[in-house]
Amino acid sequence: MLVSAKEMLEKAHAGQYGVAQFNINNLEWIKAILKACEEAKSPVILGVSEGAAKYMCGFKNVVDMVRNVHDQLKITVPVAIHLDHGSFEGAKACIEAGFTSVMFDGSHFSIEENIAKSKEIIEFAHSRGISVECEVGGIGGEEDGVTSLGEVANPDECKQIADLGVDFLAAGIGNIHGKYPENWAGLNFDVLAEIQRKVGNKPLVLHGGSGIPKEQVLKAISLGVSKINVNTELQLVFQDATRQYILADKDITGKGYDPRKLLAAGTDAITKKCIEMVKDFGSYGKAE
Ligand code: 13P
Repeated sequence: MLVSAKEMLEKAHAGQYGVAQFNINNLEWIKAILKACEEAKSPVILGVSEGAAKYMCGFKNVVDMVRNVHDQLKITVPVAIHLDHGSFEGAKACIEAGFTSVMFDGSHFSIEENIAKSKEIIEFAHSRGISVECEVGGIGGEEDGVTSLGEVANPDECKQIADLGVDFLAAGIGNIHGKYPENWAGLNFDVLAEIQRKVGNKPLVLHGGSGIPKEQVLKAISLGVSKINVNTELQLVFQDATRQYILADKDITGKGYDPRKLLAAGTDAITKKCIEMVKDFGSYGKAE
């Protein structure tokens, strides 16, 4: 059964470890991540951007694929299917389509509009037992073709959104989606600590989890981050393993062109990386 992300993140917050949100792109990603987290006995959140959902032929198909793979692989660890950076309409559509968790990202609106829209999504989702993430202060970098500069969230605005009853909150603390530039200043821990102080006992979310040095991730967890979003890192290991497969001429040897072989090295690399990351985040074994 797929579950809301609320309980797993509250447990993580109390136990001071991080649960990964790994973003999915296709069947291989779903299989690879679920296999890894079952092996690692770790809870997991499968993140789906609106762009990725469109690529996978719609929200309903994503839910059906995840449910079927989950059942077929006899997954026993808690798994949530979560909309990543959803629009107002997208969040509503995902709630209807069977997602167990949604993010409404109103960070590009004025705080008043962000509050009004977040409130409506929270009420709609909670009436169906679905967890909600909202965002204050844009996350830098590029996602689905939209580029925003890294922002540092205003802790008072975080409190205003937290007070609406959101289940977990994403706040910009200098984090960036995609590859981090050489001259990146690092996470702003003072602001993170201040946000956690203002919002009380609420799990915080760290976006842009690919390529942040481990010590910084662990420090962020110790200051209240319970959910770490990872997308680029899995894309890079898939790309690299696939590239090695082709450079070694394996695709032109025997039936190496068969997609089940061609995509296997990349898929296995995703599984391996997920296990490594859940060990780093501390959720390994937490679903035992
Ligand atoms: P990365 O692609 O940098 O890992 O970011 C993922 C993310 O934050 C999804 O919301």
